Amino acid sequence: MRSTSEYLLPRTTGEARRLQIQSELLHEATESLLGALDVGAPQTCLDIGCGTGDVMLLMAQLFGDAPRIVGLDLDTRPARARFTEAAGATIDPARFELVERDLFGPTPLPGAPFDLVFSRYMLHHLSDPAAALARMWELTREGGTLAILDLDSRATTTYPVWEPYEQIERWVRDLYRKTGIDNHIGHKLPHLFDRAGIGRPDGTRVVGLVRTIPELAEFLPLLLDMIRGKLVEHAIATQPEIDRLEAGLATAPQMTATYCYRPAAVGVWKRKVSR
Ligand SMILES: C[S@@+](CC[C@H](N)C(=O)[O-])C[C@H]1O[C@@H](n2cnc3c(N)ncnc32)[C@H](O)[C@@H]1O
Repeated sequence: MRSTSEYLLPRTTGEARRLQIQSELLHEATESLLGALDVGAPQTCLDIGCGTGDVMLLMAQLFGDAPRIVGLDLDTRPARARFTEAAGATIDPARFELVERDLFGPTPLPGAPFDLVFSRYMLHHLSDPAAALARMWELTREGGTLAILDLDSRATTTYPVWEPYEQIERWVRDLYRKTGIDNHIGHKLPHLFDRAGIGRPDGTRVVGLVRTIPELAEFLPLLLDMIRGKLVEHAIATQPEIDRLEAGLATAPQMTATYCYRPAAVGVWKRKVSR
Protein backbone atom coordinates (compact mmCIF):
# COMPACT_ATOMS: atom_id res chain seq x y z
CA MET A 1 0.00 0.00 0.00
CA ARG A 2 1.44 3.39 -0.94
CA SER A 3 1.80 5.39 2.26
CA THR A 4 0.93 9.01 2.89
CA SER A 5 4.45 10.26 2.31
CA GLU A 6 4.59 8.54 -1.10
CA TYR A 7 1.84 10.62 -2.78
CA LEU A 8 3.70 11.56 -5.94
CA LEU A 9 2.46 15.05 -6.73
CA PRO A 10 4.16 18.11 -5.19
CA ARG A 11 2.49 20.40 -2.61
CA THR A 12 3.16 23.76 -4.25
CA THR A 13 1.10 26.81 -5.19
CA GLY A 14 1.57 25.86 -8.86
CA GLU A 15 0.19 22.37 -8.21
CA ALA A 16 -2.80 23.83 -6.31
CA ARG A 17 -3.46 26.07 -9.35
CA ARG A 18 -3.12 23.07 -11.71
CA LEU A 19 -5.67 21.14 -9.64
CA GLN A 20 -8.00 24.14 -9.74
CA ILE A 21 -7.82 24.32 -13.57
CA GLN A 22 -8.25 20.54 -13.76
CA SER A 23 -11.28 20.93 -11.53
CA GLU A 24 -12.77 23.49 -13.94
CA LEU A 25 -12.12 21.08 -16.83
CA LEU A 26 -13.89 18.32 -14.88
CA HIS A 27 -16.84 20.43 -13.76
CA GLU A 28 -19.20 19.17 -16.48
CA ALA A 29 -18.32 15.50 -15.90
CA THR A 30 -18.69 15.87 -12.13
CA GLU A 31 -22.02 17.67 -12.35
CA SER A 32 -23.26 15.09 -14.83
CA LEU A 33 -22.25 12.20 -12.57
CA LEU A 34 -23.64 13.70 -9.36
CA GLY A 35 -26.87 14.54 -11.22
CA ALA A 36 -27.23 10.94 -12.44
CA LEU A 37 -27.01 9.40 -8.98
CA ASP A 38 -30.63 9.83 -7.93
CA VAL A 39 -29.63 10.36 -4.30
CA GLY A 40 -32.42 12.83 -3.46
CA ALA A 41 -31.25 15.19 -0.75
CA PRO A 42 -28.38 13.50 1.09
CA GLN A 43 -27.81 14.89 4.56
CA THR A 44 -24.19 13.88 4.82
CA CYS A 45 -21.65 13.91 1.98
CA LEU A 46 -18.00 12.88 2.07
CA ASP A 47 -15.48 13.84 -0.62
CA ILE A 48 -12.40 11.65 -0.29
CA GLY A 49 -9.17 13.25 -1.57
CA CYS A 50 -11.01 16.58 -1.74
CA GLY A 51 -7.98 18.59 -3.01
CA THR A 52 -9.08 22.17 -3.64
CA GLY A 53 -12.58 21.56 -2.23
CA ASP A 54 -14.33 22.38 -5.53
CA VAL A 55 -16.47 19.24 -5.47
CA MET A 56 -17.60 20.12 -1.93
CA LEU A 57 -18.79 23.50 -3.25
CA LEU A 58 -20.61 21.77 -6.10
CA MET A 59 -22.26 19.34 -3.65
CA ALA A 60 -23.54 22.32 -1.66
CA GLN A 61 -25.07 23.80 -4.83
CA LEU A 62 -26.62 20.54 -6.02
CA PHE A 63 -27.88 19.16 -2.74
CA GLY A 64 -29.48 22.20 -1.15
CA ASP A 65 -28.83 23.91 2.14
CA ALA A 66 -28.99 21.08 4.60
CA PRO A 67 -26.13 18.66 3.97
CA ARG A 68 -23.13 18.28 6.15
CA ILE A 69 -20.28 18.21 3.67
CA VAL A 70 -17.00 16.72 4.79
CA GLY A 71 -13.74 16.72 2.82
CA LEU A 72 -10.97 14.30 3.67
CA ASP A 73 -7.43 14.72 2.36
CA LEU A 74 -3.82 14.17 3.33
CA ASP A 75 -3.45 17.93 2.87
CA THR A 76 -6.44 20.21 3.46
CA ARG A 77 -4.61 23.52 2.89
CA PRO A 78 -5.77 23.97 -0.76
CA ALA A 79 -9.43 23.51 0.28
CA ARG A 80 -9.02 25.85 3.28
CA ALA A 81 -7.52 28.50 0.99
CA ARG A 82 -10.35 28.02 -1.54
CA PHE A 83 -13.06 28.36 1.12
CA THR A 84 -11.43 31.46 2.58
CA GLU A 85 -11.29 33.01 -0.91
CA ALA A 86 -14.99 32.24 -1.56
CA ALA A 87 -16.18 33.09 1.97
CA GLY A 88 -18.91 35.71 2.15
CA ALA A 89 -19.30 35.98 -1.62
CA THR A 90 -20.74 32.59 -2.48
CA ILE A 91 -20.39 30.29 0.48
CA ASP A 92 -20.60 29.98 4.21
CA PRO A 93 -17.38 28.13 5.15
CA ALA A 94 -19.04 26.89 8.33
CA ARG A 95 -21.02 24.40 6.22
CA PHE A 96 -17.86 22.59 5.24
CA GLU A 97 -15.76 20.36 7.42
CA LEU A 98 -12.22 19.39 6.50
CA VAL A 99 -10.50 16.35 7.95
CA GLU A 100 -6.77 16.05 7.37
CA ARG A 101 -5.92 12.39 7.38
CA ASP A 102 -5.16 9.32 5.31
CA LEU A 103 -8.09 7.31 3.94
CA PHE A 104 -6.27 4.33 5.43
CA GLY A 105 -5.78 6.06 8.78
CA PRO A 106 -6.28 3.81 11.79
CA THR A 107 -8.89 5.80 13.72
CA PRO A 108 -12.60 5.74 12.80
CA LEU A 109 -13.66 8.72 10.71
CA PRO A 110 -15.89 11.06 12.75
CA GLY A 111 -19.43 11.21 11.39
CA ALA A 112 -19.22 7.99 9.35
CA PRO A 113 -21.12 6.39 7.69
CA PHE A 114 -22.25 8.95 5.07
CA ASP A 115 -25.25 9.16 2.70
CA LEU A 116 -23.00 9.98 -0.24
CA VAL A 117 -19.34 9.04 -0.49
CA PHE A 118 -17.55 10.44 -3.51
CA SER A 119 -13.98 10.47 -4.74
CA ARG A 120 -12.57 12.13 -7.86
CA TYR A 121 -9.17 11.52 -9.45
CA MET A 122 -7.66 10.03 -6.30
CA LEU A 123 -7.97 6.30 -6.88
CA HIS A 124 -5.42 6.21 -9.71
CA HIS A 125 -2.75 7.39 -7.25
CA LEU A 126 -3.21 4.42 -4.96
CA SER A 127 -1.25 1.19 -5.21
CA ASP A 128 -4.27 -0.91 -4.14
CA PRO A 129 -7.40 0.79 -5.52
CA ALA A 130 -9.65 -2.18 -4.65
CA ALA A 131 -8.62 -1.85 -0.98
CA ALA A 132 -9.38 1.88 -1.16
CA LEU A 133 -12.82 1.17 -2.64
CA ALA A 134 -13.53 -1.36 0.12
CA ARG A 135 -12.59 1.30 2.71
CA MET A 136 -14.86 3.85 0.98
CA TRP A 137 -17.70 1.31 0.98
CA GLU A 138 -17.31 0.93 4.76
CA LEU A 139 -17.79 4.70 5.02
CA THR A 140 -21.06 4.50 3.03
CA ARG A 141 -24.22 3.99 5.11
CA GLU A 142 -26.84 1.40 4.17
CA GLY A 143 -29.14 3.07 1.64
CA GLY A 144 -26.31 5.49 0.77
CA THR A 145 -24.30 5.70 -2.45
CA LEU A 146 -20.64 5.40 -3.34
CA ALA A 147 -19.61 7.22 -6.54
CA ILE A 148 -16.19 7.41 -8.16
CA LEU A 149 -14.95 9.59 -10.99
CA ASP A 150 -11.53 8.81 -12.41
CA LEU A 151 -9.65 9.18 -15.63
CA ASP A 152 -8.84 6.99 -18.56
CA SER A 153 -6.12 8.65 -20.57
CA ARG A 154 -5.49 5.93 -23.16
CA ALA A 155 -7.06 7.87 -26.01
CA THR A 156 -5.85 11.38 -25.25
CA THR A 157 -4.35 13.08 -28.30
CA THR A 158 -4.33 16.20 -30.46
CA TYR A 159 -5.46 16.93 -33.99
CA PRO A 160 -3.69 18.13 -36.02
CA VAL A 161 -0.98 16.42 -33.99
CA TRP A 162 0.81 18.93 -31.75
CA GLU A 163 4.06 17.34 -30.65
CA PRO A 164 4.53 19.19 -27.31
CA TYR A 165 1.23 17.74 -26.02
CA GLU A 166 2.02 14.27 -27.32
CA GLN A 167 5.47 14.50 -25.71
CA ILE A 168 4.24 15.57 -22.27
CA GLU A 169 1.60 12.84 -22.30
CA ARG A 170 4.26 10.24 -23.21
CA TRP A 171 6.40 11.40 -20.27
CA VAL A 172 3.47 11.42 -17.87
CA ARG A 173 2.61 7.89 -18.99
CA ASP A 174 6.22 6.66 -18.58
CA LEU A 175 6.56 8.29 -15.18
CA TYR A 176 3.24 6.95 -13.94
CA ARG A 177 4.09 3.47 -15.17
CA LYS A 178 7.40 3.58 -13.30
CA THR A 179 5.82 4.86 -10.10
CA GLY A 180 2.74 2.60 -10.07
CA ILE A 181 0.14 5.23 -10.91
CA ASP A 182 -2.61 3.95 -13.20
CA ASN A 183 -4.02 6.73 -15.36
CA HIS A 184 -5.89 4.12 -17.43
CA ILE A 185 -7.93 3.12 -14.39
CA GLY A 186 -11.27 4.48 -15.69
CA HIS A 187 -12.26 1.42 -17.74
CA LYS A 188 -11.26 -0.87 -14.85
CA LEU A 189 -13.56 0.72 -12.26
CA PRO A 190 -16.58 -1.62 -12.70
CA HIS A 191 -14.30 -4.66 -12.27
CA LEU A 192 -12.63 -3.02 -9.26
CA PHE A 193 -16.07 -2.51 -7.64
CA ASP A 194 -16.61 -6.27 -7.99
CA ARG A 195 -13.14 -7.07 -6.68
CA ALA A 196 -13.64 -4.78 -3.67
CA GLY A 197 -16.75 -6.76 -2.70
CA ILE A 198 -19.07 -3.86 -3.59
CA GLY A 199 -20.65 -5.72 -6.49
CA ARG A 200 -21.67 -4.73 -9.98
CA PRO A 201 -22.18 -0.96 -10.32
CA ASP A 202 -25.72 0.41 -10.63
CA GLY A 203 -24.57 2.84 -13.30
CA THR A 204 -21.68 4.24 -15.29
CA ARG A 205 -21.20 7.53 -17.10
CA VAL A 206 -18.32 8.47 -19.38
CA VAL A 207 -17.75 12.11 -20.27
CA GLY A 208 -15.20 13.20 -22.87
CA LEU A 209 -13.61 16.58 -23.14
CA VAL A 210 -12.30 18.49 -26.16
CA ARG A 211 -10.50 21.82 -25.84
CA THR A 212 -8.39 23.98 -28.12
CA ILE A 213 -4.69 24.07 -27.25
CA PRO A 214 -4.84 27.78 -26.25
CA GLU A 215 -7.47 26.82 -23.65
CA LEU A 216 -4.83 24.55 -22.10
CA ALA A 217 -2.03 27.14 -22.32
CA GLU A 218 -1.88 27.71 -18.54
CA PHE A 219 -2.52 24.09 -17.60
CA LEU A 220 0.21 22.37 -19.64
CA PRO A 221 3.28 24.20 -18.21
CA LEU A 222 1.88 23.52 -14.72
CA LEU A 223 1.61 19.85 -15.65
CA LEU A 224 5.27 19.91 -16.70
CA ASP A 225 6.22 21.66 -13.43
CA MET A 226 4.40 18.93 -11.52
CA ILE A 227 6.62 16.20 -12.96
CA ARG A 228 9.90 17.87 -14.03
CA GLY A 229 11.92 16.78 -10.97
CA LYS A 230 10.61 13.22 -11.19
CA LEU A 231 11.37 13.00 -14.93
CA VAL A 232 15.05 13.55 -14.25
CA GLU A 233 15.06 11.38 -11.12
CA HIS A 234 13.57 8.43 -13.04
CA ALA A 235 15.78 9.02 -16.12
CA ILE A 236 12.80 9.62 -18.39
CA ALA A 237 14.03 12.98 -19.70
CA THR A 238 17.14 15.11 -19.44
CA GLN A 239 17.13 18.77 -18.40
CA PRO A 240 17.82 20.01 -21.99
CA GLU A 241 14.89 17.89 -23.27
CA ILE A 242 12.65 19.37 -20.58
CA ASP A 243 13.80 22.90 -21.52
CA ARG A 244 12.96 22.19 -25.19
CA LEU A 245 9.50 20.96 -24.26
CA GLU A 246 8.96 24.03 -22.08
CA ALA A 247 9.75 26.26 -25.07
CA GLY A 248 7.36 24.20 -27.23
CA LEU A 249 4.53 24.49 -24.69
CA ALA A 250 5.00 28.27 -24.63
CA THR A 251 3.69 28.37 -28.23
CA ALA A 252 0.29 27.00 -27.08
CA PRO A 253 -1.56 30.37 -27.39
CA GLN A 254 -0.81 30.38 -31.15
CA MET A 255 -2.27 26.88 -31.79
CA THR A 256 -5.80 28.16 -32.29
CA ALA A 257 -6.77 25.54 -34.88
CA THR A 258 -5.49 22.53 -32.92
CA TYR A 259 -7.82 20.52 -30.71
CA CYS A 260 -7.01 18.32 -27.77
CA TYR A 261 -9.00 15.24 -26.88
CA ARG A 262 -8.43 15.07 -23.13
CA PRO A 263 -8.59 11.91 -20.99
CA ALA A 264 -12.10 10.53 -20.57
CA ALA A 265 -13.68 10.96 -17.13
CA VAL A 266 -15.32 7.71 -16.07
CA GLY A 267 -18.02 7.72 -13.39
CA VAL A 268 -19.21 4.58 -11.61
CA TRP A 269 -21.66 4.27 -8.73
CA LYS A 270 -23.49 1.84 -6.49
CA ARG A 271 -26.17 2.18 -3.83
CA LYS A 272 -25.62 0.11 -0.69
CA VAL A 273 -28.79 -1.88 -0.18
CA SER A 274 -29.96 -2.48 3.37
CA ARG A 275 -29.45 -6.03 4.55
C1 LIG B 1 -5.17 14.48 -8.08
S1 LIG B 1 -5.74 15.10 -6.55
C2 LIG B 1 -7.51 15.26 -6.88
C3 LIG B 1 -8.15 16.28 -5.97
C4 LIG B 1 -9.67 16.44 -6.11
N1 LIG B 1 -10.38 15.22 -5.80
C5 LIG B 1 -10.07 16.94 -7.46
O1 LIG B 1 -10.57 16.15 -8.26
O2 LIG B 1 -9.89 18.14 -7.74
C6 LIG B 1 -5.68 13.71 -5.45
C7 LIG B 1 -5.93 14.11 -4.01
O3 LIG B 1 -6.00 12.92 -3.23
C8 LIG B 1 -5.30 13.12 -2.01
N2 LIG B 1 -4.87 11.80 -1.50
C9 LIG B 1 -3.99 10.94 -2.09
N3 LIG B 1 -3.85 9.83 -1.36
C10 LIG B 1 -4.67 9.98 -0.27
C11 LIG B 1 -4.97 9.16 0.86
N4 LIG B 1 -4.38 7.97 1.02
N5 LIG B 1 -5.85 9.63 1.78
C12 LIG B 1 -6.44 10.85 1.62
N6 LIG B 1 -6.20 11.66 0.57
C13 LIG B 1 -5.33 11.24 -0.37
C14 LIG B 1 -4.15 14.04 -2.38
O4 LIG B 1 -3.65 14.73 -1.25
C15 LIG B 1 -4.80 14.96 -3.41
O5 LIG B 1 -5.35 16.11 -2.83
